[in-house]
Amino acid sequence: MSIVVFDSGLGGVTVLHKALQVLPYEQYIYFADDGHVPYGTKTKEEVRSCILASMEATITDETRALVVACNTATSIAIGDLRKRYGFPVIGMEPAVKPAVELSRSTGRRVLVLATALTLREAKYHDLVNRLGDSGRIDSLPMPGLVTLAEELVFTGPRVQAYLDETLGGYDWTKYGTIVLGCTHFQFFRTALAAFLPPHVELIDGSAGTVRRLQELIGSGEAVADSPGSIEFRHSGSDAGYPDKMRHALDWYRRDRSGQTHD
Ligand code: DGL
Repeated sequence: MSIVVFDSGLGGVTVLHKALQVLPYEQYIYFADDGHVPYGTKTKEEVRSCILASMEATITDETRALVVACNTATSIAIGDLRKRYGFPVIGMEPAVKPAVELSRSTGRRVLVLATALTLREAKYHDLVNRLGDSGRIDSLPMPGLVTLAEELVFTGPRVQAYLDETLGGYDWTKYGTIVLGCTHFQFFRTALAAFLPPHVELIDGSAGTVRRLQELIGSGEAVADSPGSIEFRHSGSDAGYPDKMRHALDWYRRDRSGQTHD
């Protein structure tokens, strides 16, 4: 019985990394819809049909749980997926709540980085309105980070130039927290931390998502004869994509090793 971890592309690998830390003995299938990445610049209807086609290709009687490791896909289809399947379906949403809690103590603003589609959706607006602090929250789509991540470019001059172009104009004395509301953006933690003044905290929802997975499937105790495994699958025609997924996971693992705030 496997846990399916799903994203439009490489971003969900950052959530898989967290899952492997907490639940190392499980059988994982990581599915990337690389034939249709990026989702964030498509319409809701296009993304919905991409998600359903991906599910057709991945979900079997052997599926134990589904982790939608994509904020955009969660905002479009999590309700439908929960209705459709009898096993646990866990999604991701921008971690605005902890960011706002932090900002109440520092008095600083929150900047939510996510895809254009996530930021347009009612689910995001409901989340912000529920917190009753919308005056303190700004948002910004960063599609260029999805492109760079898909090219496995996580640091260096192109990343720096894009951060300058998109984030260079902010008065960071006013901001205390950035929410990484797209799983692809987590690859840029190191680049963002170097770009931003040290008081700006980066927050994402991976830990919460994996905690929920753990609650729903059990504790993750070692099972005899079951050392855990990862199978990489994808929808696109790039035969090199499984290697890219492996590389992205290894890179992220190395990048986060020794970091306490991941
Ligand atoms: N990784 C996805 C997310 O968390 C979306 C990236 C994309 O395909 O645009 O929102």
